[in-house]
Amino acid sequence: MSSASAADRIVFVGAGKMGTALLSGLARAGAPGCVEVIEPHPSTELVALCDARGFALCGAPPAGPPAGTLLLAIKPQMLESVAPALSKVVGPETLVVSILAGKRIADLSTRLAARAFVRAMPNTPAAIGRGITGAFANAQTSAPQRGLAQRLLSAAGEVVWVEREELIDAVTAVSGSGPAYVFLLAECLAAAGAAAGLPEDLAARLARATVSGAGELMHRTPELSPATLRENVTSPGGTTAAALAVLMAQDGLAPLMTRAVEAAKRRAAELSG
Ligand SMILES: NC(=O)c1ccc[n+]([C@@H]2O[C@H](COP(=O)([O-])OP(=O)(O)OC[C@H]3O[C@@H](n4cnc5c(N)ncnc54)[C@H](OP(=O)(O)O)[C@@H]3O)[C@@H](O)[C@H]2O)c1
Repeated sequence: MSSASAADRIVFVGAGKMGTALLSGLARAGAPGCVEVIEPHPSTELVALCDARGFALCGAPPAGPPAGTLLLAIKPQMLESVAPALSKVVGPETLVVSILAGKRIADLSTRLAARAFVRAMPNTPAAIGRGITGAFANAQTSAPQRGLAQRLLSAAGEVVWVEREELIDAVTAVSGSGPAYVFLLAECLAAAGAAAGLPEDLAARLARATVSGAGELMHRTPELSPATLRENVTSPGGTTAAALAVLMAQDGLAPLMTRAVEAAKRRAAELSG
């Protein structure tokens, strides 16, 4: 262990896809402390990252005083079996930041001896630093601890805070699961292009570039709402207007999306127990 004080220790527990994405972001942005990673089966990418950045990598929780911050990124179903060994690194002053889908702060606090908990829901564009994370901090989380959580989670992209823990289910339904809705849009657009007579591979290429290009355009023009961007490319009586009349009909995309998000939110609530 390095000579950093225990309060500066940031211990990652689990570094698979999401944990590695956060660690890569921290490596780019600079870690606000001394990072240790507990990962029994590290990928080659993780080993190289830890080597290059001086992150300590170990297979099991090391002995020592409790860490200042613990970032939990294991699979949710592993929590029960992994938690007992974490008593070595968690104490009453430890901030626990959990990205475990469906695990409420009540579930975490019965298993870990900390008081300050942040529950967060990132999404997969985190892998390229373009994710968005919804986060909730319990009342025992101090302002500096919340700031630290913000810095850690920012490694994956933007961070937004919600004031009630239940809202994490709605965040899950919008941005957590949302990338899949966008990928489906690209699939449907490609299938519709093929039905309109295009060769399948060409339709897939057009759809992919359109969805990613439109996303990038939206990203680069934050001053314009999606509605304005849409209106800007819709001439009255034109082709886009003809398609939008179908998509924006009473039984069009809006009610469908509302039902989809409701279904995801309901499922998130069921999974949280
Ligand atoms: N991916 C997403 O889009 C996403 C979005 C939001 C939230 N999340 C949450 O992020 C968490 C991680 O998801 P993921 O997709 O990154 O899963 P993952 O790739 O399976 O990562 C979990 C990691 O934890 C490791 N692990 C297993 N036992 C451990 C132990 N005793 N101590 C420390 N580490 C251990 C696993 O190693 P082995 O593979 O060797 O078992 C694996 O590398 C989940 O709780 C998920 O709900 C993910």
